[in-house]
Amino acid sequence: MEIFIDTANIDEIRQVNDWGILDGVTTNPSLVAKEKDKGKDFKTIVKEICEIVQGDVSAEVVAVKYEDILHEARILAKVHKNVVVKIPLLPDGLKAVKTLAKEGIRVNVTLCFSANQALLAAKAGAYIISPFVGRLDDIGQDGVELVEEIRQIYDNYDFKTKILFASVRHADHVKQAALIGADVATCPFKVIEQLYKHPLTDAGLKQFLDDWAKLGQQIK
Ligand code: G3P
Repeated sequence: MEIFIDTANIDEIRQVNDWGILDGVTTNPSLVAKEKDKGKDFKTIVKEICEIVQGDVSAEVVAVKYEDILHEARILAKVHKNVVVKIPLLPDGLKAVKTLAKEGIRVNVTLCFSANQALLAAKAGAYIISPFVGRLDDIGQDGVELVEEIRQIYDNYDFKTKILFASVRHADHVKQAALIGADVATCPFKVIEQLYKHPLTDAGLKQFLDDWAKLGQQIK
């Protein structure tokens, strides 16, 4: 399973990329708006991210009408070959997905909350579908079950659309994503940190190093 970071923060992206486990990045308008340097042009941010990470970088349109979505999508797709244009799951959005797919522009269909929406996105030719698991959990629904349903539907009909487990809230979501066969999980920085952590790893390492120190040897 690929691991993406869900952020527009350049420092976070650089740090996780240095750890050697990063496969891509997802951004959204809220994540971009959260960043300190609000004056920085969005295309500049996307280009900077693409120059750091070797992998897909999702950049979202803010238009909601078919022609406007196409216009913004074509601009974003030109920024770098690794850009995947993110488009919300609307009738005009899916119509745009179909047109853009014919032009070879890859689209991540976002704000997916039902299996039927995911079916339509795949039929339209989406490269990625993004079910928002955490936001469903937040309202008492089962986000993981949604991803399971989408996996089954896509496998039933051999749809190649990648399933991106989005709105990850904690490390257990990442494990669940991998167990049910999601293609990608996109995680906030703090969740990627959590993936490394186990108290027994820390305690075990301390014990090893303390015992070794008693020997007074070096490995050389
Ligand atoms: O980027 C899409 C998604 O991962 C957003 O997650 O945390 O805003 O629900 P969140």
